[in-house]
Parts: sequence; structure tokens; C-alpha cells
Amino acid sequence: MPGNSPSLGLRGFSGGGCRHSLLTIVWTVVGFFLAAHLISLYTSKDDQQQQQQAPSHHLQQQLHPPPHPALRELVRVKEEILRLPPPRKRSPRTSKRRSRKPIPMVEEFLDDKSPIRHLFFPDMKTAAFGPTKDMGNDAFHYFPGRFGWTRKETQFKLTAEGFCTTRNLARTIGVGCYSSKDLWTWKNEGIVLGAEETNKTHDLHKSNVLERPKVIYNEKTGKYVMWMHIDDANYTKASVGVAISDHPTGPFEYLYSKRPHGFDSRDMTVFKDDDGVAYLFYSSEVNSVLHIGPLTEDYLDVTPVMKRVMVGQHREAPAIFKHENTYYMITSWCTGWAPNEALAHAAESIMGPWEKLGNPCVGGNKVSRLTTFFAQSTYVFPLPGVPGAFIFMADRWKPSDLRDSRYVWLPLVIGGPADQPLESSFGFPMWSRVSIYWHSKWHLP
Ligand SMILES: *[C@@H]1O[C@H](CO)[C@@H](O)[C@H](O)[C@H]1NC(C)=O
Ligand SMILES: *[C@@H]1O[C@H](CO)[C@@H](O)[C@H](O)[C@H]1NC(C)=O
Repeated sequence: MPGNSPSLGLRGFSGGGCRHSLLTIVWTVVGFFLAAHLISLYTSKDDQQQQQQAPSHHLQQQLHPPPHPALRELVRVKEEILRLPPPRKRSPRTSKRRSRKPIPMVEEFLDDKSPIRHLFFPDMKTAAFGPTKDMGNDAFHYFPGRFGWTRKETQFKLTAEGFCTTRNLARTIGVGCYSSKDLWTWKNEGIVLGAEETNKTHDLHKSNVLERPKVIYNEKTGKYVMWMHIDDANYTKASVGVAISDHPTGPFEYLYSKRPHGFDSRDMTVFKDDDGVAYLFYSSEVNSVLHIGPLTEDYLDVTPVMKRVMVGQHREAPAIFKHENTYYMITSWCTGWAPNEALAHAAESIMGPWEKLGNPCVGGNKVSRLTTFFAQSTYVFPLPGVPGAFIFMADRWKPSDLRDSRYVWLPLVIGGPADQPLESSFGFPMWSRVSIYWHSKWHLP
């Protein structure tokens, strides 16, 4: 997030990772998620060979099969009209945050006095939903924007408990963990990595910043390893932190922080590949370049190997996923807390080169597509049992009250030819499209 302006400070976190268990699938959220990987990747060699041949309609169909029947409802394009309220005087706060070319609806989104505020941040009390509520036909639907952080007393279990802070904001509590077996009902597992109350020189001191924690399971050591962005209130430390636990639900022991490969590191994520090798992705060189490097076998450090990708492109909030031997990534641009246009990227090798696939957002309206539905990518989670389908998880930041920021979860589907011709593929539609479909409410297929 706040790429360009360090003073804009903190942001929430999310987590992710994979764990395989045979009988019980335990979905666990750490800030977000620790989870089971159920997607089996099956690519036939034949298909790959055919990709080398000249394109034809038949081949197109083979390369880009129609979406899984279970997804029929989720890939329906849903338009949504947002109407601007009558013009009025803006709160000074919003004007200060004016971007170079303000979009009126984004100004509205950022204005905490906006009369249409409830469209972006529905009242948590009245927007009650969840399995314990009698919602009739609305039960078991996700309502993007209604998930929040914090507040144990609410029904909003898809939340992360207090996370990070700048001097003016709520103190750091630590990293929260929620678990679920069905991605719907959630158990609050409490704080799994707590803040340091007294020791001011400690990375986790409550005056510091902890963002974007991710947890991955190491089969060789049997440990759960958490990677996170560690910073001071002024975003000058720009480091990664590492913590370890025997259980996904903690408690995690904090090990250390460092600047990976000697570089500044802000937005980051970790991705564990099918072969057990895990990688650190981080926005570096003042958010202008993305760095990718494999972790050591025990996942407790980076190795000396590192690639610089998307040089000069100023991308942050990377979320990585894989389908049929292709790696995908969603990123945002750096505009502080203001939402911006997401990009999808693809690569045959995780270390790159990564190529742009274009804006993945489908439906909603023009402004919401240009603002990632007023949110920022944080994690992409495989949808169990539906190859090529994922849950796109994003943070809808509320700059005036960051702890009331929301989650936007939407279906993400890989399929159909990419709509952006690529630099190195001679116009050949080698990549599939990545689409994130807007739904004001939806449920798992
Ligand atoms: C405070 O934290 C620092 C950094 O982790 C550590 O070196 C130091 O020993 C701690 N001090 C106390 C009194 O625990
Ligand atoms: C952050 O910056 C302010 C003003 O520039 C300074 O007073 C403060 O000591 C800095 N804090 C840290 C943790 O670097």
C-alpha cells in the first residue's frame, strides 16, 4: 500500500500459506489464512506441445476451455451503478489526499463525510450476516465490503485482530488468527504473535508497524513459519520479520528482522510452490521494483538468489497463485491509501520474466474496475475442488479509521484468452485471462 507517501503509514495484513492434511482440512486464517491446498494441478503434456503450433479456433478452445460448470453463476457479469451525491464542500482531509487526477467517485470514497459512505463501508451492526444469524436466502453469501477487521463482539469472524499502528492510530495488538473448515464459519484463535508492550527497541513494540503476515508450513521441519513486513512508524526500517511455531494457531516465536538481500522491503508475500520451495516477493527500491527470491530449506531466511522484476513499474500488494504450471500475480499501483487499478501478471518461471495480462476486474462499473472495486489485492486463495477458480481477497482501506477497513472477497477465474497482447509472445494468445468478477453478494459453488 502506501507506496508513495510513507506518512500514510500502516495497513492491515493478511496471511496465507498451504498445508496438506489427509482427513481433516483445517482452514486457518492468520490475519487471514493458513490453509490446505486442494487444487490438483494437471496439465497434460499434449496440451503443452500443442501450444507450440500455430493458433486455430480448435486450439483456442483447448487452450482456453470454458469455465467449470460449477462457476456458471460466478462468471456472470454483474453491472452496478453508483451515483454521485450532489456536489458539496469537501472535508479538508479529503482535499489534502487529492491524487493527481482525482476521480469524483474515488474522492467520495475517501471522504469520511460522504453521504454515500455506507455504500463502501456498510454499517457493521446492521449488515449482520453469518451462519448464526437468520438470514433466510442470504445465509452463506459473501458480501464484499462487509467483512471487517477487529471487534470480537461482532459476528464478523473474517477479521483480523488489531495489527499495526502509527503514532496516531490504535496500538499494535499483534497478529490474529481465525480458522475455518468451510471458509464460512470461523473460529477466533486469538492473537498468535503478540505485540511487545514495554521494550521500545523491539521490532514488535506497539509503536511499530507490522503488516501483511503470511504463514507457510515447512514439511521438513514440521514448523509453521510466519513472514511479515516490519517497519517503524515512519516506514524507514522497511524490513521483513520471521516468526516460527509448531502450530498454525501459534503461539509464534518472533525470531528476527532483516533487509532481504540488503534491500528495503515493504509490501511482501511468500509463496510456497508444489515442489516445496518457497519464495519471498517484496516491493523494493522504494517500491519501484519487485524482488523475488527463494527461501532457505527451513524457510527461516532468504538465499542469496534474487531477481528484480517489473523494474520501474511501481507495483505493490503482490498476491501469487498458480494454475496448470503457470504462475499468476495480482498487484496494485502505489497511491497511498487511495485505491487504484489492479494488474494481473503471468510467468512460466516463478523468477520471471513476468508479463502483464491487464486489468482483471470484470463487472461493477468503470470506476470500480479502475479501483479494484475500491480495494487492494492481498491474497489469492484456491477454491477447493474447482481447478482454475480462486478467491481474490482484497483490503478496502478506510484511511480515517484503518481498523474499520474491510475485506472484499470475489471469485477469480482463469480462462479465456488474455485481452492484452504481450511483448514476447508474438501476439500469440499463450496466456489465459485472469478475471475477477464483481458480485454484491455471492457464495461458494
Ligand atoms: C529489547 O529488545 C531488543 C531487541 O529485540 C533485545 O535485544 C533486548 O534484549 C530487549 N530488552 C529487554 C530488556 O528485554
Ligand atoms: C519519525 O519522524 C519524526 C519526524 O520526522 C521523528 O520525530 C521521529 O523520531 C521519527 N520516528 C522514528 C521511529 O523514526
